[in-house]
Amino acid sequence: MERKALCPTPPMGWNTWNTFADNINEELIRTSADAMVEQGLLDAGYQYLVIDDCWDKKERDEEGRLVADPERFPSGMKALADYVHSKGLKFGMYSCCGTKTCAGYPGSFGHEFEDAEQFASWGVDYLKYDNCYKPRTQECALLYRRMGMALANCGRDIVFSACQWGTENVHEWIRSTGAHLFRSTGDIQDSWASIETLARSQMDKLAYGANYCHNDMDMLVVGIHGKAGNDFISAGGCTDEEYQTHFALWVMMNSPLMIGCDVRSMTAKTKEILTNRDLIAINQDIECRSAYRVQGNWSPDTFTLIKMLSGGDYAVAYFNFGDVAANVSLEFWDMGLPVRRDLGLEFYDCYTHETIGVKRETFAPVVPAHGSRVYRCRLVRTNG
Ligand code: GLA
Repeated sequence: MERKALCPTPPMGWNTWNTFADNINEELIRTSADAMVEQGLLDAGYQYLVIDDCWDKKERDEEGRLVADPERFPSGMKALADYVHSKGLKFGMYSCCGTKTCAGYPGSFGHEFEDAEQFASWGVDYLKYDNCYKPRTQECALLYRRMGMALANCGRDIVFSACQWGTENVHEWIRSTGAHLFRSTGDIQDSWASIETLARSQMDKLAYGANYCHNDMDMLVVGIHGKAGNDFISAGGCTDEEYQTHFALWVMMNSPLMIGCDVRSMTAKTKEILTNRDLIAINQDIECRSAYRVQGNWSPDTFTLIKMLSGGDYAVAYFNFGDVAANVSLEFWDMGLPVRRDLGLEFYDCYTHETIGVKRETFAPVVPAHGSRVYRCRLVRTNG
């Protein structure tokens, strides 16, 4: 079979875990698939619908196959995949490299090749592959290599989403396993503290994600507002300002964008954040250049992330992690622009979708506490 090169840019979709955890069934999947289309998420680029942990029976069948829980998924996974595909979406599922999944369902250890074929026969397009219950004697890289080999040879194009949590220097070896994305962090929680911790943890690893193998900072909590699937994830919720900043960070840091809220009941603001086409275009820029960080002048909590885009534009994102509003500064020579009267940057505001004018040498907007501002900038020659 001729294989397509999958995931040139970070994958986008929706995953059941953050809001529903073990409370999943086929009705939820069908109605969420409907909502992804009706709410404009598919149009915005969110194409993968992924069922996380807790979809199967606690035991394999006599032939050693995984079996979908007949009470929650009475029509079976093939029929569900067909439904998801009929909506124009792609279908994702979940397994684990250990003997059990994190929630205690059968893992794929020792069954990698049969499971890959099983997923292919159901029409699966994406496999999230977790990291629990690993035999202690097995090197982690080997377990991911095994599933990478099995998926690449199962007869179907399946995105390999390695959920490795950032341990064992995963960024150094994961690309060699065939993974298209790799979780680089522990599990996200619905709180500003969690968002800040995960973002800071990856600031020095941005260069490890690239086309065809992306640094996955975990699924989004945008729009959950404290109503997550379990007590660990429900950590108080965030303000819309904080959700906006979370989305901007994941966009600028080239993370996959996997929605985690209930897409059937999003507020207008949640939908606006998740479907911001100017931000999505930055995340999906074909060259996938990693952003770099420039410290702000007046507070240790302020900084910019700058990402060069194909065609010569730049995405410039200002962040304020502090608890009070602050000016966040950027001098353009830190981007490489010489100080000359005839050169400037034209700023387009990706939140208001308006061009705000040409700036020379520096621009330092006021950014609210835990807030962000994102601009798309174009080099212009001016009359001095
Ligand atoms: C781990 C993963 C989560 C989720 C759960 C399911 O904690 O990191 O993203 O898949 O397992 O049990």
